[in-house]
Amino acid sequence: MIGIFDSGLGGLTALKELVKRLPNEDFVYFGDTGRVPYGTRSVETIKKYSLEDLKFLSSFGVDAVLVACGTVSSTALDELRSASDKRIYGVITPAVKAAVKATKNGKIGVIGTNATIKSGAFEKGLHECDLSIEVSSVACPLFVPLVENGFATPGDEVTLAAVKRYLLPLRDKGIDTLILGCTHYPIISWAIAEVLPGVTLISSGEAAADAVADDVLSGRIKSSGTGVIRCYCSDKPSNFEATAALFMGDVNVGRAEKINIEDYSL
Ligand code: DGL
Repeated sequence: MIGIFDSGLGGLTALKELVKRLPNEDFVYFGDTGRVPYGTRSVETIKKYSLEDLKFLSSFGVDAVLVACGTVSSTALDELRSASDKRIYGVITPAVKAAVKATKNGKIGVIGTNATIKSGAFEKGLHECDLSIEVSSVACPLFVPLVENGFATPGDEVTLAAVKRYLLPLRDKGIDTLILGCTHYPIISWAIAEVLPGVTLISSGEAAADAVADDVLSGRIKSSGTGVIRCYCSDKPSNFEATAALFMGDVNVGRAEKINIEDYSL
């Protein structure tokens, strides 16, 4: 069984890919919808919240955990790895590898939450692969609330205006590849592609899901289950279920159950 968590629903972009690649695996997903967004909070708070999220998922006896959140992956991955004897995956390294593979001109953009961009984690990863890569990073703090509130339908004028405001300056940088460093962003990729035509978009959640699926299929992680997906959240399940459909398309995640995440404080 694989555990996946995010501050909210963005991690479902990773779950969707995992289900496609591992249809017989069991998954347990936690979206901390009562405390989203994480990306505007302090590093201390992000570490505290994510350790609680990990403790909740660990109570299921998971074989591995995917931190399907750019914000947590860039600020708290070391703490999570120290706190668990399970394999913990983040989104940074897989997305960096996919972007380096995709770029032709060596100019890569990175977008994410305030905390992710401030951490410099993607930039560091890209430069560890190749020091000559030109990285242009932009924090886009309005994107997560827009997606969590369902402003994601193609053509939505509010979302398109926000995307233009943040991303038009990237046009002058000549990037040919853009890392969507927050797992919520693929849901508004229609708007990002409109503002940055011809740029290859790398979904960090999808890239991480590929890394996990490769390890399961090669036997590095134990595979178990019969294709059961369980979803939990920390606020109203009806909100989770309504927006989950946007992320999951034809993959049905069923009902979500509300838990009290404070019960898992350390
Ligand atoms: N999906 C999270 C990420 O990848 C959103 C973070 C937030 O809650 O601000 O960064």
